Amino acid sequence: MSKISVLFVCLGNICRSPTAHAVFQSMVDEEGLSDKVYVDSSGTGDWHIGRAPDPRSQHYALDRGFDMGDLRARLVTEDDFNQFDYIFAMDKQNLADLKAMCPSGYSGELGLFLSLCQNPDYSNYSEVPDPYYGEGEGFTLVLDLIQDASVELIRLIKGRL
Ligand code: 4NP
Repeated sequence: MSKISVLFVCLGNICRSPTAHAVFQSMVDEEGLSDKVYVDSSGTGDWHIGRAPDPRSQHYALDRGFDMGDLRARLVTEDDFNQFDYIFAMDKQNLADLKAMCPSGYSGELGLFLSLCQNPDYSNYSEVPDPYYGEGEGFTLVLDLIQDASVELIRLIKGRL
């Protein structure tokens, strides 16, 4: 059986989507699903290709036990639609950019990651706010939102296995 594959996409692929990548990968590993679920991340913008995640993202993620140090930014490609069962955008602009490049026959699921959030505290968030130009609390909010949505994604995927 081929793996269920999940791609997280933001703008730079150095803050939000690598955070989702590391958090969700860690949950997949904890659930013993690493041989059944493949996780990746990418960006719609090309400024940071090949770079490690933003040091602030790495710092706040590591505080919660998520190591993002080995991840490297890459650009999302049309071929990703052939490879991934789920493609999750961090914000509405990312989603619009993905829809613009999505082949008409794409049979996976393309949507906003926070549509999976279950915690009522986060019901006002449909997008993961971009923390790049802000302060530390922006990065911890990114983690809070992503951890909540990831719990639901694990539940959904376990239901498919
Ligand atoms: P990300 O954050 O999309 O969460 O990786 C950003 C990183 C870099 C830039 C914008 C957003 N930038 O303009 O360089």
